[in-house]
Amino acid sequence: MEHGTFLGDDRFVWGPEGLDEVEAELLGPPEELKDRRVLEIGAGAAQCSRWLAAQGARPVALDISHRQLQHALRIGGSFPLVCADAGALPFADASFDLACSAYGALPFVADPVRVLTELRRVLRPGGRFVFSVTHPIRWAFPDEPGPEGLTVAASYFDRTPYVEQDEQGRAVYVEHHRTIGDRVRDIAASGFRLVDLVEPEWPAWNTAEWGGWSPLRGNLIPGTAIFVCERDDRG
Ligand SMILES: C[S@@+](CC[C@H](N)C(=O)[O-])C[C@H]1O[C@@H](n2cnc3c(N)ncnc32)[C@H](O)[C@@H]1O
Repeated sequence: MEHGTFLGDDRFVWGPEGLDEVEAELLGPPEELKDRRVLEIGAGAAQCSRWLAAQGARPVALDISHRQLQHALRIGGSFPLVCADAGALPFADASFDLACSAYGALPFVADPVRVLTELRRVLRPGGRFVFSVTHPIRWAFPDEPGPEGLTVAASYFDRTPYVEQDEQGRAVYVEHHRTIGDRVRDIAASGFRLVDLVEPEWPAWNTAEWGGWSPLRGNLIPGTAIFVCERDDRG
């Protein structure tokens, strides 16, 4: 995700609209975060973990990219950084109370059920996983901030991944599309219960325009989908 300038190093922001965890409380009230073991996947520079640590939680920030974690290390914070694939978590069963991800890992994997199944395994019974991704409807629109970004140009149902290649033809960036229905089925198939799906509205204070993000588009079509899931132990 390209960031707006509002993101900072220690705010927990769910997406480009600017909705933060202080306002959203999707992981629960901040006063209940104290001492909670929280796994952040696709942490990048670990802004969310830094905020969680400031609330007294015990975050672990995981990312597959060593370079991202070096960036996190440079910014600082007193919590572990783990370089690993979210599809093979190096943690014991039921070792976290909560898990979260802001635009991390899930959009970039071909097999999201594998990641979700791993998250369910490392969460305690009833534990919550909240993750945000680009709202699937955006797949159908050009990634442009102006009016050209308001006309459907591709099929919402086309799951062909978006791939950028280097000069040698190697994939250097891959993003996978899941429809809303795909995501709901992935969540259920992994042993989670979907308890909410949040579509943040573009707030009036956010006048930022970058990449495909803009108040023009934000006021008309959703940009972020936040899935709130709980480990389902009903059998
Ligand atoms: C768009 S960035 C989001 C970073 C951060 N959560 C934020 O809000 O700024 C996506 C991150 O997911 C990480 N990622 C991609 N695939 C992953 C995987 N399979 N396992 C763990 N992290 C992954 C990338 O390295 C990158 O740091």
